[in-house]
Amino acid sequence: MDGEEVRQAHGPRDGSQRDGASRREVVNWILGLGAGGVAAAVFYPIVRYIVPPEEAQSAANSVALSVKPEDVKSNSGQIFKFGNKPAILIRTPTGDLRAFTAVCTHLGCIVEYRADLSQIWCPCHNGHYNLQGINVSGPPPKPLTEYVVNVQGDRIVVSRGQAG
Ligand code: FES
Repeated sequence: MDGEEVRQAHGPRDGSQRDGASRREVVNWILGLGAGGVAAAVFYPIVRYIVPPEEAQSAANSVALSVKPEDVKSNSGQIFKFGNKPAILIRTPTGDLRAFTAVCTHLGCIVEYRADLSQIWCPCHNGHYNLQGINVSGPPPKPLTEYVVNVQGDRIVVSRGQAG
């Protein structure tokens, strides 16, 4: 048997071997694609869980409140959301509207308005702030951050920035 006879006994080499190779490549490509899809399906939720979402709202510089100015009673306070943090809007006994962060400067509890004292009060450790947001008694180490309050028609708009 010479070389030509061996080649003929195993059939033609060119066409069918190339077809087999290209079929194998296609199958490998499809398997690779499937494996990639499985990996993405497994790891994407894990990565989304581990990586915290961007806090776009925390960068908000102003918020229009849903309450109308005339509906905010004298000597009262109410919590609202400023970005993703709580804030407190108060109307002083003399009628001024003021807003502060509602996060206590001691350990981060949410403050509330005490009409009986006309003060902002933290229930966690009995911290007191006056109507300028200044810590006046209890453990809070520093004043509340004050926001700017503007009345625009029947809207109350609270903004970051220097109040005064
Ligand atoms: S957290 Fe407000 S007084 Fe302690």
